[in-house]
Amino acid sequence: MSDLDIVILAAGIGKRMRSSLPKVLHKLAGKPLLRHVLDTAQKLVPRKIYVVYGHGGEQVQTEINDDHLLWVKQEPQLGTGHALLQVLPCLEKSGKTLVLLGDVPLIQENSLTTLIASSSTNNFALLTVTLANPFGYGRVIRENGTHRISAIVEEKDANEVQRKINEINTGIMVLPNAYLHDCLPKLNNHNAQGEYYLTDIIKLAASSGIKIETTQPHYEWEVSGINSKVQLAQLERAAQAFQAQQLLEAGVTLMDPSRIDIRGNLLCGNNVEIDVNCIFEGTVTLEDSVKINANCIIRDTIVKSGTTVLPFSVIDNAEIGRNCHIGPYARIRPGTRLDDNVHIGNFVEIKNSYIAMDSKANHLSYIGDAIVGKKVNIGAGTITCNYDGAHKHQTIIEDNVFVGSDTQLIAPVKVAKGSTIGAGSTITRDTPEEQLTLSRAKQISISGWKRPSKTKI
Ligand code: UD1
Ligand code: CA
Repeated sequence: MSDLDIVILAAGIGKRMRSSLPKVLHKLAGKPLLRHVLDTAQKLVPRKIYVVYGHGGEQVQTEINDDHLLWVKQEPQLGTGHALLQVLPCLEKSGKTLVLLGDVPLIQENSLTTLIASSSTNNFALLTVTLANPFGYGRVIRENGTHRISAIVEEKDANEVQRKINEINTGIMVLPNAYLHDCLPKLNNHNAQGEYYLTDIIKLAASSGIKIETTQPHYEWEVSGINSKVQLAQLERAAQAFQAQQLLEAGVTLMDPSRIDIRGNLLCGNNVEIDVNCIFEGTVTLEDSVKINANCIIRDTIVKSGTTVLPFSVIDNAEIGRNCHIGPYARIRPGTRLDDNVHIGNFVEIKNSYIAMDSKANHLSYIGDAIVGKKVNIGAGTITCNYDGAHKHQTIIEDNVFVGSDTQLIAPVKVAKGSTIGAGSTITRDTPEEQLTLSRAKQISISGWKRPSKTKI
């Protein structure tokens, strides 16, 4: 069993976000900041995970309701040291604690593994990084000559010389539990912000001869803290750039890696091509040789091999078969399942429907709550009238049906196999197999009819 506990500090008010949403619930790459930290924490298989919450606590707990999390309330919020102090009564005396910050979302598992490997139950391990612009972060103070760490000084407490130090505290550290029980209650709030700084524990440890090991993360952006919307937007770009780089490395063709947004997980097979300005949300799978053209939005969907999605299509919670053609300007809504070789063209909306193989709806249609058979051709402007104002009803269109343009199918209705529906029909009753059915007023012409014209005064 692991002797590692993890404490995620997430109680801060996040004043600088200027938002009523608790800071750790703001989204980065489609996930709340705290969710990123938790997902990484869980990969380390720790003994326990504590989340210190405070500001907007209920909202945070509702949004992040994983089992096995131990929630510890901090009220009022008197600083990072005070936050960790709230966990102390629950914390075991043995083992060590990894402190993560709820507002440092992109820390990667391997950087933490390296940090943990450098820790033990009698030394400290601190994740630091050297930044060209260290503004806002706590500075790591090292003794001249020995290079040993003696303290961390916060931006607001630092003197001019200290502010010039580029090595910063990421806030992520591994501390022996025994030491925390001993020293955490000794912190004071005699500083510029009147807070109990967790970082002061470094000075206490250094002065009692405890060794402080440091390791660095692989990438700088892993330890970027989010304190404002500006930083959130900057880190979003870093996260997107990293995801795009991983796709390229896996062999996906991206027409422009700076113009793709993945807000969730995008899983790609071989020979996948993605043009510019596409957004992927939730879990999206693109199988081999799928091509997504420009400006598409795809959420929680699987697109099977060989399918092409043309520009400006929106697909949500659907399953798209092999070798389909979707779009341009198609809207595929939740509950849609398309079989292989289906063609869905421009301005066609499909909701909660199944369309069997080799069928086509190429222009300007609404297909909702329908079951469509094989080799069906749905003409331009066809509408399934599925809603009577109170209830939704089903339309069934069997194999080999040809629906003429501008047809309304008033559900519930069944168009039997092999039927042809004449253009411009309103179909209210089930149609017989293999026959032409149409409902149309007889065409008449009136000779000598005059168009109305404006009367002159
Ligand atoms: C903190 C560190 C700083 C480091 C930086 C890295 C301290 C004193 N400073 O500064 O050295 O460079 O992180 O990003 O630790 N929190 C609580 N309760 C509180 C206060 C904060 O849970 O009472 C949580 C916040 O929700 C946040 C984290 O602790 O997730 C950090 O707090 P924040 O106020 O953002 O600290 P920084 O000023 O960024
Ligand atoms: Ca911060």
